[in-house]
Parts: sequence; C-alpha cells; structure tokens
Amino acid sequence: MSFTLKVNGRAHTVDVPEDTPLLYVLRDELGLNGAKYGCGVGQCGACTVLSNGTSLRSCVVPAARLGGRELTTLEGLRAPDGAPHPLQKAFLAEQAGQCAYCIPGMLMAAAALLREKPRPSEAEIRTALDANLCRCGSHNRIVRAIQRAAA
Ligand code: FES
Repeated sequence: MSFTLKVNGRAHTVDVPEDTPLLYVLRDELGLNGAKYGCGVGQCGACTVLSNGTSLRSCVVPAARLGGRELTTLEGLRAPDGAPHPLQKAFLAEQAGQCAYCIPGMLMAAAALLREKPRPSEAEIRTALDANLCRCGSHNRIVRAIQRAAA
C-alpha cells in the first residue's frame, strides 16, 4: 500500500503492507533510528514519537493510519539550525542516560508533556512518564532533567 507520511516537516511516500507499524516504517524505510524497538506491544515507551504534538507508541500503530498527521521523531526534536532541544541539553547536563536505550522515548514523552504543560510539577512529570520504562533505574535523573529544561 502506498501512502504519504509527514515526518519532521518532510513528506515521504512509502509503499509497505497496510498493517506495518509506524516504527518499522521510520527505521526501515526512512532511516530514522531515533525511535527504538523495546517491547513491540506498546508497553515500554522506547518507540515514542509525537503525532500532532502528542506522544504515540509507534510500535503498535499502523503507519498507513497516520497520513495527514504531523509526525516528529527524535531526529526532528532539535532546532532547524541543528541546535539541541532544551530537553536534550538538560538530559546531558543531568547525565540522565545510563544505558540510554529508553532515552529517545523519554525525550519525546517529555517534549509532549512540556508542550502541553510548560512548567509541570514533579508529580506531573512522574505521572506523564510513568509508562516509559527505564531498566537502569535512572528515573530520578530523568525527572531532574525535565525540571531543568522546564525552569
Ligand atoms: Fe513500543 Fe515498547 S517498543 S512501547
């Protein structure tokens, strides 16, 4: 099935089976590897991207359903001039990543949160990222990084 996706401000026409998850299209067809494969069943958040500014688990949504949406991946988080997003700077400053496999999904979920709520409380941050799993236990540093970016 052929359709067009708008990703990071650019239109891409892809031709994949109708039920192909967005994650596979991003990684295998478009070469955008920021979103990670963790569980593949919508449980871990490693594959999080933004769809019209809200977080979306790209492993469980067929890409063919997302035509017309503005999709943003980790690669599209930085500014047009290439400057890192404030969240990316803050995650580095707080050394929020340990193995860092979860960090792309954390960044995208945090970006969705700050878009909706620029000054979230710690409790709101913890709630927003509750379903993004970090096996290293870096949650406290991740929360501090989001607070730093929101300050
Ligand atoms: Fe999509 Fe885990 S890989 S939620």
